[in-house]
Amino acid sequence: MITKVGQDISYAASLLREGYLVGIPTETVYGLGGNGLDPVALANIFEVKARPTFDPLILHADRLEKVNPLVHHIPKAIQKLAKVFSPGPITYILPKSQMVPDLATAGKPTVAVRIPNHPTTLDVLSRIDFPVAAPSANPFGYVSPTTPAHVKAQLNHKIPYILDGGPSSIGLESTIVEPLEKGIQVLRLGGTSIEDLQQVITPVKVSNSTGGNPDAPGQLPTHYAPETRLRLGDPAKHVKKFKPSEIGILSFYHLYQGIPFANQYVLSPKGDLNEAAQHLFDALRKLDERNFKLVIAERFPDEGLGRAINDRLERASAKR
Ligand code: TXA
Ligand code: MG
Repeated sequence: MITKVGQDISYAASLLREGYLVGIPTETVYGLGGNGLDPVALANIFEVKARPTFDPLILHADRLEKVNPLVHHIPKAIQKLAKVFSPGPITYILPKSQMVPDLATAGKPTVAVRIPNHPTTLDVLSRIDFPVAAPSANPFGYVSPTTPAHVKAQLNHKIPYILDGGPSSIGLESTIVEPLEKGIQVLRLGGTSIEDLQQVITPVKVSNSTGGNPDAPGQLPTHYAPETRLRLGDPAKHVKKFKPSEIGILSFYHLYQGIPFANQYVLSPKGDLNEAAQHLFDALRKLDERNFKLVIAERFPDEGLGRAINDRLERASAKR
């Protein structure tokens, strides 16, 4: 199968209607989209991604009215969040209705739903009458894609079309939240910060679990992982064991002396965490392509999107 890349929204919508998979742009990362109510399309998503079927998918819609038939009800707390943050980088875990196939939810009684904030994909979603299941468009366990080229590099020949919506503006997956009796629980740190959530609702519990049987099953300890060994910490402490040329560095805003500048990837020279998030996955891929013996990533400030960046770097550097 030839994988085309283009900007044809109506073609993307018709492929989805016919049961094919399409690479779709979102503000967080690119998704591998398919009809979320069609078990065959869902099975294809798991196959193309080599994703275990115990890991449930997120269903995407262009507006809340289209979410209603997929869920039993939408609790007040989530309605309140949706008013402020959707469309945007946030996913809600809600009690599912009969309509949602078990394959989409891995047999769970809940379904993950999201309204992405990307004009191209919102347009596609508005043209179809079913939700689009879309995991990040990368092989299971690898770094998520933030450009059409990233998707093509890994899923070439496996899907017919990648819809080009430019680079993702947020660069980190959505924050996943679940309603509690009081407040909410964050199951995955992501593009909507804890601080922003707390402006709208309290308390915000964070259980960004990393165990073997986590609440969000995709949140395994090793995830977002490049091929090259990655360490998280102070580069100055790790450099001694290697020649400077054997090391790659991922840093927030400054360059390290004694290591070739060409081996260093600075995510935001002006020290902006949102900009750093936007560039994170692209930099991890570029570093991976250089075949260094070791990549050392700085720990980011534990605030705003810095928390989600650290989370991804922790998983990417976990022992395999
Ligand atoms: O930003 C995003 O959310 C991107 C874009 C494409 O929308 N999608 C994405 O999907 O990151 P994926 O499949 O890579 O991650 C979905 C996460 C997994 O960790 C999965 O375990 C969790 O959502 N999840 C899905 N359904 C769930 C449920 N019912 N309960 C708890 N976690 C769930
Ligand atoms: Mg993913």
